[in-house]
Amino acid sequence: MAGSGTFSEIIDGDVYKYYVDGQWNKSSSGKSVPIINPTTRKTHYKVQACTQEEVNNVIDSAKKAQKLWAKTPLWKRAELLHKAAAILKENKAPIAECLVKEIAKPAKDAVTEVVRSGDLVSYCAEEGVRILGEGKFLVSDSFPGNDRTKYCLTSKIPLGVVLAIPPFNYPVNLAISKIAPALIAGNSIVLKPPTQGAVAALHMVHCFHLAGFPKGLIGCVTGKGSEIGDFLTMHPGVNCISFTGGDTGISISRKAGMIPLQMELGGKDACIVLEDADLDLAAANIVKGGFSYSGQRCTAVKVVLVMEKVASSLVKKVNEKVAKLTVGPPEDNCDITPVVTESSANFVEGLVKDAKEKKATFCQEYKREGNLIWPLLLDNVRPDMRIAWEEPFGPVLPVIRIKTVEEGIHHCNASNFGLQGCVFTSDINKAIMISDAMETGTVQINSAPARGPDHFPFQGLKDSGIGSQGITNSIHIMTKVKTTVINLPAPSYTMG
Ligand code: G3H
Repeated sequence: MAGSGTFSEIIDGDVYKYYVDGQWNKSSSGKSVPIINPTTRKTHYKVQACTQEEVNNVIDSAKKAQKLWAKTPLWKRAELLHKAAAILKENKAPIAECLVKEIAKPAKDAVTEVVRSGDLVSYCAEEGVRILGEGKFLVSDSFPGNDRTKYCLTSKIPLGVVLAIPPFNYPVNLAISKIAPALIAGNSIVLKPPTQGAVAALHMVHCFHLAGFPKGLIGCVTGKGSEIGDFLTMHPGVNCISFTGGDTGISISRKAGMIPLQMELGGKDACIVLEDADLDLAAANIVKGGFSYSGQRCTAVKVVLVMEKVASSLVKKVNEKVAKLTVGPPEDNCDITPVVTESSANFVEGLVKDAKEKKATFCQEYKREGNLIWPLLLDNVRPDMRIAWEEPFGPVLPVIRIKTVEEGIHHCNASNFGLQGCVFTSDINKAIMISDAMETGTVQINSAPARGPDHFPFQGLKDSGIGSQGITNSIHIMTKVKTTVINLPAPSYTMG
């Protein structure tokens, strides 16, 4: 059970503590923030409502710890990360339980999230040792006007304190994907978990605590964004922000100042299906991509753009699969579980109502109980409907029938998002041409969009984000280049 055994230290009464300077503490505010279980819609956990002074303390402590950590040998950093990965995996059950209760993630997927995170930490440790252990050597005569009197040595050095802000849908994995590269690169971490998902994140932090990282190197504050959000992101002690979430990221990037930012915001990932596509493969990927975790993934398929000639066959195949999706509580491992908050469910409902008024074809009856929304495919969606452009972050998927491939590419590129896209065709040449034309960070050929494998580059264009993720890219973003130039006296002799 969460909060017991290995984790008893991180809870006081019924309120989870925050983590500062290697210790679990209660906030001086005396206040807590409730975490509502999306299934029961009742308070399931409580976390500390930290104050700005406590944020200052966490950042100060992280700053001090980082100085020593930057001098800690890479192999030693990697050793601790491997240890944390093992502890994390050992505790997959209690952490997954938090994910089930806080964010209604299906039980099996919750375990997968924790295991995937452990693997990410280990891979990151290995990759860091390799890429941070080498630098560059340059000689000046490669540039006109210089003789061979300058030698340049470059290496990668840490940035300092990295602020990690993960989203509710992967509070463990998308925290880890920021924490592990930051640590291997010699940075310290201040984590601000999302409210829904905070308890799973606190358990994950405790695994790092148990691994024996130096005190202060990792800090974790919880609380209301309205109280500590801007204070954290505009804090002069923060040297890099890695954020995943909604359009709050745009305002963070405006306020953050001159520090490296790594941001993954929303997406409206389009799935283009051509006439020569394997429709069974496309339908399977559309259902998996559109409805897994009830569509609450930034990389979910969020609009299907299908050539008219094959549209009816595709829609039929998709509907057959939608009919087989199970709907219910996350504890029962249902495919479709309640969306994270009541306001999220209301937002989805608003998009559905708009589509109804504008006469989209409802392939299933719209059904909702509390936060639980039954999967819904909307056919014959037109560009004047909100669902054609906005991301529901729920189990509702629009289908737009297109006359030409260009029409599909145009729709995809007219979006303010540019995260991923996918194309289904048996013609690889066409697929590559479409990939080149789509203004997205990644295009998947004959598969649904996805962030993983976690060492692949992952980035959004336009309002979908800045900076590339993936293990190697994250390590690079969380370091800066340090150059030392050795200047020799001009040669006083001639050759022969
Ligand atoms: O929700 C945003 C995540 O980066 C998506 O990750 O493709 O592994 O589900 P995923």
